[in-house]
Amino acid sequence: MITQELQEKLISLSKQALEKSYSPYSKFAVAAAVLTEKGDIFTGCNIENISYGLSICGERAAIFKMISEKGPQEKIKAIAITTKPDIPCTPCGACRQVIQEFSLPDTLVIFKSDQDFVAMTTGQILPGAFTEFTALDQDGTSKRIQKGV
Ligand code: THU
Repeated sequence: MITQELQEKLISLSKQALEKSYSPYSKFAVAAAVLTEKGDIFTGCNIENISYGLSICGERAAIFKMISEKGPQEKIKAIAITTKPDIPCTPCGACRQVIQEFSLPDTLVIFKSDQDFVAMTTGQILPGAFTEFTALDQDGTSKRIQKGV
């Protein structure tokens, strides 16, 4: 868990990152500020593409910046999401799965719900997440693949 003050700082940094958004098609800017377990902060914004499907969400831009700048061991302590226009908005399903990949049990996802910002754990916004599967080799042997291993 993190202090209210830190949550507000993340919201404020996320709002600043909205100004970087490249969203000429939807005209909907989305940005995120990620606080890592070690205390670093990374921001990201949505970056659209004329082929639409190649667009990247603000949350994933911030998380990919965290990993590409700091490395694969990094974990998200909290992520705050803001939008322009400033309306209630929860992270999309794809971003929930990517947040989950780098989450801790108490990772907080902060977003605007109705009037106010709320903070929920990754488990609350993505219950029953896909985190493991059994891979079958050609020789018939199987092995368990788990998130991050
Ligand atoms: N978008 C995000 O950046 N994050 C989300 O969680 C939801 C949607 C972006 C994608 C697109 O650029 C715009 O919002 C409209 O869907």
